[in-house]
Amino acid sequence: MTTMKIYKVTDYDALSKRAASMLAAQIIGKPDAVLGLATGSTPTGTYQYLRTWQREGILDFSGIRTVNLDEYRGIARTNAQSYYAFMRENLFDHVNIKEENTYIPNGEEADGDKVCREYEALIRRLGGVDLQLLGIGQNGHIGFNEPAESFAEACHCVDLARSTIEANQRFFERAEDVPRQAYTMGIGTIMRAKKILLLASGREKAKALYQAVCGPISPKLPASVLRLHPDVTILADEECCAGMEF
Ligand code: F6R
Repeated sequence: MTTMKIYKVTDYDALSKRAASMLAAQIIGKPDAVLGLATGSTPTGTYQYLRTWQREGILDFSGIRTVNLDEYRGIARTNAQSYYAFMRENLFDHVNIKEENTYIPNGEEADGDKVCREYEALIRRLGGVDLQLLGIGQNGHIGFNEPAESFAEACHCVDLARSTIEANQRFFERAEDVPRQAYTMGIGTIMRAKKILLLASGREKAKALYQAVCGPISPKLPASVLRLHPDVTILADEECCAGMEF
């Protein structure tokens, strides 16, 4: 039996506000919380609300620690498409978080074993993730855990699926600029988070969300594993819920 909670919200703005409220509750309830963060287009509205609420004095990020899900391998931090740059632009540069409390896998380090071992140890040292924010790929990936034969237990280096490279192409000038590999938290890393919040917006995610919630639990649809986690909330907008009865 799953304890997954699924909320259907009207649109992207409602989804963003509700997600930001959950993160805000975590920040207020535990001022030194460890937040697991995601990049991509889905959480940008959420980050926008958090920025506004910090500016208005509702939120204080001074004790908050963050660990990001993933980073492209072989990309410089200075590259505008790095997840490092994304986080600065969308959140970190606009709130009073301490830079030394923000962690993202080091995409500039070629030694994947070293990056992943150290990142996993770091998360353990921080005491684990209190609230992990997730998006979902069209193929059901979470973090960069692509459909596979088994669930990866820890942080690892992945070859990105063709569909992911194509989906991410919109952020790069040329198709050949899209990185082919990434460092990502493993499914095990994600499942060790105390709470998980997954955001799903838009028609193109409807099939993946449906399969995650109603299909078999399988590494072939990585998000389906979340049904085994004791504390998962899914926020999905109406477009994404098309055809689903919840
Ligand atoms: C991003 C990440 C990915 C995205 C997913 C959805 O850090 O880990 O799993 O959440 O690819 O991306 P968007 O939100 O751009 O549709």
